[in-house]
Amino acid sequence: MASDTGGAWWSGAVGYEIYVRSFADSSGDGIGDLRGVTDHLDHLADLGIDVLWLTPFYPTPGFDHGYDVSDYCAVDPAHGTLEDFENLTTAAHERGLKVVIDLVPNHTSADHPWFRDALANPDGPRRDYYVWEDPAPDGGPPNNWVSHFGGPAWTHDPVSGQYYCHLFLPEQPDLNWANPAVVAEFDRILMFWADQGVDGFRIDVAHGLVKDPLRRDNSLIRPLTPDMGPVEVFESFAHDHDLDQNANIEIFRGWNRLLEPRNLVLIGEIGVTDQERAARYVADGDGLHEMFFLESTYLPWDPPAWRNALTGLQPLAPTGVSWVLSCHDRPRAVTRFGGGARGAERAFALATFIMGLGGTPFIYQGEELGLPDGRVRPGHVSDPLAVRNPGSDEVGRDGCRTPMPWTGGPTNGFSPSGRSWLPSDDRPVELTVAAQSGDPASMLNRYRDLIAFRHRTPALWEEPLRWLDSETDVLLGRRPRVLMVLNMAPDRREIPLVGGPWALAFGSRCGSCCSPAPQSLVVEPETCLILTRE
Ligand code: NOJ
Repeated sequence: MASDTGGAWWSGAVGYEIYVRSFADSSGDGIGDLRGVTDHLDHLADLGIDVLWLTPFYPTPGFDHGYDVSDYCAVDPAHGTLEDFENLTTAAHERGLKVVIDLVPNHTSADHPWFRDALANPDGPRRDYYVWEDPAPDGGPPNNWVSHFGGPAWTHDPVSGQYYCHLFLPEQPDLNWANPAVVAEFDRILMFWADQGVDGFRIDVAHGLVKDPLRRDNSLIRPLTPDMGPVEVFESFAHDHDLDQNANIEIFRGWNRLLEPRNLVLIGEIGVTDQERAARYVADGDGLHEMFFLESTYLPWDPPAWRNALTGLQPLAPTGVSWVLSCHDRPRAVTRFGGGARGAERAFALATFIMGLGGTPFIYQGEELGLPDGRVRPGHVSDPLAVRNPGSDEVGRDGCRTPMPWTGGPTNGFSPSGRSWLPSDDRPVELTVAAQSGDPASMLNRYRDLIAFRHRTPALWEEPLRWLDSETDVLLGRRPRVLMVLNMAPDRREIPLVGGPWALAFGSRCGSCCSPAPQSLVVEPETCLILTRE
């Protein structure tokens, strides 16, 4: 049974991902910070956003740009102070914005005191906070698990002779979620932030916490070849023993019970490709409330693939998906969809369509400007996925992480010093917030219009959706008082309308409108239309 978000505060909300390092730098050190976020909250309020997701801002050595946490209950000096966080939360709440923070429970940083203690004291109580195993009989890693970032998922500790597990970098050792002490530590961390006034958590690698206790090999689904990059190698395994173990869901049930009195939202990153398996994380509404399903951040403009992704998953989790087109881990939708004006139109057509799919759509910073990926200056590649795999064709995730363009000029107003941790070409002025803000035809104002349309049209999410038969490249979603049409084809399509009279309420190419729809509707290429009726 699908979860029912009923009267939850996030029903009908629109979210926004802030990649903190690249959003706005107030101090001038070239690294985005919490004060920078606070300074730009009006941009988000004007856009109509309801919920912010802040990527990690905790103390970190920065091997994975903050997803390697060395203290879960503090703020990295590069991003500010706890007081800055408090001010941000207060200022956000004053504007009606909820604040969701990123929790990274699959792994800590190797610099975390728990891991240092685990290394230094193999017989101490922290050792079992992590996943340790003896070597295989040949002295190599205990099994065939591989890291997302290349190489085995095991690193040898010469002092104890054992291996520790890391699904990401060796500097990101995986926690042992079979240990009740780890569960208790995270209960404490969750309550710490609940007491700081956060409104929820985005849970990193939520599908990865529990590992097979027998540490069995993953099955191989296609042969490995020497020319494969790290992502291809990772995707060549079924991950039946390192990811998506049933016991993950129990952990989130515990968190749900703990946080329910505070009315916080739990949104998991679910990197599971099988839709039915992914949907079970939100199925009963007593664990995670929503999930980021990653396929929609991978797909190019491929109508059959989108049909499968949207019409397959939505019925399995009608209110349980935080729909996203872009995020800080994948090329931006505009780029994936071919770039330029056409890529931007395609992205806006899909952005319009996902507003009616139920769950909370999240916009990734800059998506509201129609941004393609940025261009990092040669010699400044920063993402470990690329840096740690020289010689592979892995370009890494920097292109979607370049600074948010606020104005013209150096770093597009990202930093007062004109510095950026990720030196990149400045964006043309027409792609900045300043230029688009006052232009009624800009992508920014089209997003404002779209979000306002969603807010004034509860029939877009409050009533059940069913999918109508249609040609492969045309998606037709019907709610009792809403009809959504997405024509992904490169040519016009004619849709016979039944069950009307319908009125055209929003079009990805024409914005808010209110005109009676004829009996049969001609939909322009690569366009989304939303019709409503009494
Ligand atoms: C998913 C995050 O979105 C990504 O940026 C990070 O590298 C991995 N999890 C590991 O924490």
